[in-house]
Amino acid sequence: MVSKIIKSAVAALLAVAGVQAAQNQLQQITVSPNPNNVGLYVYRPTRIAANPPLIVAIHFCTGSAQNYFTSTQYANLADTYGFIVIYPDAPRSGKCFDVHSTQTLTHDGGGDSQGIASAVKYAIANYGVDPKRVFVTGTSSGAMMTNVMAGSYPDLFAAASAYSGVPFACFAGTSEWNSACANGQVSHTAQQWGDLVRAAYPGYTGPRPKFMQWHGTADTTLYYPNFAQGLLQWTNVFNVSQTATQTFSNNPQASYTKTVYGDASNPVVIGYSAQGVGHTVPVHESIDLDWFGITGSGATTTAAPTTTGTTTTAVPTTTTAAPTTTTITTATSTPTTPTGCLSQKWGQCGGLTWTGCTACAAGSTCQKQNDYYSQCL
Ligand SMILES: *[C@@H]1O[C@H](CO)[C@@H](O)[C@H](O)[C@H]1NC(C)=O
Repeated sequence: MVSKIIKSAVAALLAVAGVQAAQNQLQQITVSPNPNNVGLYVYRPTRIAANPPLIVAIHFCTGSAQNYFTSTQYANLADTYGFIVIYPDAPRSGKCFDVHSTQTLTHDGGGDSQGIASAVKYAIANYGVDPKRVFVTGTSSGAMMTNVMAGSYPDLFAAASAYSGVPFACFAGTSEWNSACANGQVSHTAQQWGDLVRAAYPGYTGPRPKFMQWHGTADTTLYYPNFAQGLLQWTNVFNVSQTATQTFSNNPQASYTKTVYGDASNPVVIGYSAQGVGHTVPVHESIDLDWFGITGSGATTTAAPTTTGTTTTAVPTTTTAAPTTTTITTATSTPTTPTGCLSQKWGQCGGLTWTGCTACAAGSTCQKQNDYYSQCL
């Protein structure tokens, strides 16, 4: 168990960019109820959008709030778009989140999930967060926790993006680690998976977060069968067909396959299967932001202005438009290194085994972070 957790963390560290230019620092907040004393840290950019969106971004085993803050781009993107980020910090020595207890898998039942839910409510009450634009994402243990938050607190979240996790309640039991689930040996029907989510909050009939999940086929920590099981679960929750309505090869990059479930023009579940990728799939922040509607053609968020205003933090509603071009492109069907294509700012542009675009969109240049990851900055 410990070796798997460490392996997970090392892979995650190799996969992420390690660049941090965020304007501000993390601030710890104290909320109640928080029965397990989950650490809760908030990032608020200098220029916050009116009624800002909120992203809860959750770290992997052995990680920390500070680590996920510095190793992902959500804070930098918050500087640009004016949303707020909360980084939970696991309250136990292995630094994994509680994704197994009955408490955490129950709405208002206690556990780690209740502390994180309290932080969301705190942000709505104290920072003017738009309660309809609260999102959750995470990697590995944080991806499992993303499933937990979406299942136990469907009333709080509008969308989720989970990197290399397992379905809601797959880890259910008395132990922090569930080898059968981790090894991909827990399988249920779509109905059974959906029932587990519905049982977390009996009687709830309101909206639920649309769900995006990412998984590498070569994952040997939380094995790949969990990807298909998760798609069964969330398509059942939304009562849409388990058959994809659209499939895109080499999207958003070579060797990734995107499958879309539900109404193709307004999907409720999306899967990204990453051929040959292990634990964990690198975070694709710009795609998360599009999925959350913070950027992209469906954006309802007004971006923070690019010029100040030093005397006010108010955000004009008519300034900088959200990008109108999508960052999701369908590449050609051959998984060779594309020529002439551009990675978006913050996107990956190189690294060992990288087969995607190696040039960067205007305004950014490709900078090597480590042997495994170069990024458009
Ligand atoms: C699920 O969708 C079908 C139609 O596709 C409908 O007949 C059925 O009532 C729906 N079930 C629920 C629980 O909403």
